[in-house]
Amino acid sequence: MTSPVTTERHDDVLVIISNNPPVNALGANVRIGLDAGIREALADESIKAVVIRCDGRTFFAGADITEFTKPPVEPGLPDVVNTIEASTKPVIAAIHGTALGGGCEVTLGCHYRIAVPSAKMGTPEVKLGLLPGAGGTQRLPRVAGIEAAVEMCATGTPVGAKKALEIGLIDRLAGEDSLAKDAIAFAREMIAKGPRPSRNLPVKGDVAAIAAFAKVNARKFRGFEAPAANITCVEAATRLPFEEGLAFEREQFFKLIMGVQSAAQRHIFFAERQAQKIDGIAPDVKPRTINRVGVIGAGTMGGGISMNFLSAGVAVTIVEMKQDALDKGTGIMRKNYEASAAKGRMKPEQVEAAMGLLKPTLALEELADCDLIIEAVYENMDVKKEIFGKLDKICKPGAILASNTSYLNIDEIAASTSRPQDVLGMHFFSPANVMKLLEVVRGAKTAPDALMTAMGLAKKIGKVAVVAGVCHGFIGNRMLEPRQMEAMKLLMEGATPAQVDRVHVEFGMPMGPFQMADLAGVDIGWHRDPTRIENIRDALAAVGRWGQKTGKGFYDYDEKRNPTPSVETQQIIDDFSAKAGLTKREISDQEIIERTLYTMVNEGARILEEGMAQRASDIDVVWIYGYGWPVYRGGPMFWADTEGNDKIVAGLEKHGFAIAPLLKRLAETKGRFNR
Ligand code: CAA
Repeated sequence: MTSPVTTERHDDVLVIISNNPPVNALGANVRIGLDAGIREALADESIKAVVIRCDGRTFFAGADITEFTKPPVEPGLPDVVNTIEASTKPVIAAIHGTALGGGCEVTLGCHYRIAVPSAKMGTPEVKLGLLPGAGGTQRLPRVAGIEAAVEMCATGTPVGAKKALEIGLIDRLAGEDSLAKDAIAFAREMIAKGPRPSRNLPVKGDVAAIAAFAKVNARKFRGFEAPAANITCVEAATRLPFEEGLAFEREQFFKLIMGVQSAAQRHIFFAERQAQKIDGIAPDVKPRTINRVGVIGAGTMGGGISMNFLSAGVAVTIVEMKQDALDKGTGIMRKNYEASAAKGRMKPEQVEAAMGLLKPTLALEELADCDLIIEAVYENMDVKKEIFGKLDKICKPGAILASNTSYLNIDEIAASTSRPQDVLGMHFFSPANVMKLLEVVRGAKTAPDALMTAMGLAKKIGKVAVVAGVCHGFIGNRMLEPRQMEAMKLLMEGATPAQVDRVHVEFGMPMGPFQMADLAGVDIGWHRDPTRIENIRDALAAVGRWGQKTGKGFYDYDEKRNPTPSVETQQIIDDFSAKAGLTKREISDQEIIERTLYTMVNEGARILEEGMAQRASDIDVVWIYGYGWPVYRGGPMFWADTEGNDKIVAGLEKHGFAIAPLLKRLAETKGRFNR
């Protein structure tokens, strides 16, 4: 096999070049090639300096994550970085694209660094539940300072080249198009200076920055193991000699890589990328061109959906029925953008550019020049059918007609047009301009190129999209239903809202089912007839307990929206419980998990069996990005695999649930949803 690493001699400078598409991951062959390149330079007396650079779209984007579960191949990355650092001839890293993880560590092994202005450098290992295990936590505080090191390692957020220059992470900026040439010139300049091994540099900055950083971010890191391990390693760099620091880092790295959290986070890394792939699409299918998007409805959903496209530079025509609703909707969009600008997330001219792409109108006919139309009106089949019937007459041939429905049957909606092949669902999650998940619903007659277009567009607007089949609630909301139902039943049997919510929060959810109901509005979906009281939610809604917005719901709220258990709510629960003839009993936390979370796994298994999700990992992606399932548990299906599907089945059977056949099979064979 030919090596992905080659060398090029430029008089007294040896350039080591890696070309390992797509992202120059540091797989075994690359490591062997780098090691050989350094040896070649050292063995040749006429070579005075070395440049390491990459061909293709990026500098090394990290260790090869696919190797993590395979037997190790020598030389390991830490050895290669040490070999580079030990070179007696200066070694220069020439950086473009993204120098991430092990890639960033290779640059730290080099003696000097030069980068193009668009380059980024970072240590995102923490996002995989890991830490930079090739000396990154020990070299970064020496090269870039304690403050930058702890932030980069524990958050995984990369820094741009300009910032890298400021903090000393790079020594020089190259021309955007002249990196190869500039790096050789820089290398020649450094011959006189000689090597500058990072390990010999003193740690820079104030140690107190570490504790301050940990304190500020404690909430963000709740439940995660890796951020604390990263912080501890950077802290170790401030007090241990370099070699001891390296040994400490290794020990911490192995602890993390053997753990469930890192396995879960790595699973999600690949799951997110896998989700983009559509089963059963011929290789010659091409996406349709989308220049202008139409959105029907300027309410919270329609406005949020429009903002996604405007922010990505795609023109939007937004339609409402009345002028005041249109003005209100577009006004909120502008306000949201201006709030982002005030926080420094956007420049004022970007606000104007985005709003400049928006065409508000009251005329549905104005959608005639749109390539994709997303309907975001309220959930009523007759209304949706009427709109789609009209769109069929107005829209140009080949335009994609999408509904943002959360539950309704896309095939039935499609049947109200003469072009069901162009109809699909695009289910955004609220707030639509923030939440990353998009369920793209494939109808029975949806054309492959229409589906592919929607999936591609999702990526363009920064969403993580998952293909779902036509069923009530698609993937996410369908699995939410048994959870919500059981949560309610648990209240009737003796659990309190606070107990159920606590169990969910301790599990790692951002909030529990009742906190969520209070935030979203207890009155959502309420029939608005105070005399018709069929369940606890109806009873709460009837007495104005609509959630945070009315200062009371399942909980009471003070003016700062801090919740406290409510006597009135408890009374309502007790009344219902008594009416149903139930005797209250002590409910264990484990029972709450079994009845609210195991039931979700059971529903997920049915969704898979029915082909409503393409793969188990897609379900995991839905729950991570749409509902805040803790990423360190890898999504519900991955979590079930780690718990053991036999344990899940036993837990469900205890409470008399019918078990999905697929789940049963996996339990019997000790199988997994995610292979
Ligand atoms: N190892 C193996 N495969 C990788 C990879 C890696 N480090 N990074 C990306 N890939 C693969 C992706 O899975 C994807 O494969 P498919 O096309 O088969 O789906 C392909 O490369 C392209 O990736 P993206 O679709 O993500 O491309 P992008 O242009 O959107 O993003 C990127 C490029 C910013 C580099 C992004 O891929 C990324 O963030 N990669 C991971 C970076 C990372 O976490 N590095 C740290 C690795 S751990 C480490 O280095 C540990 C250590 O210290 C020892």
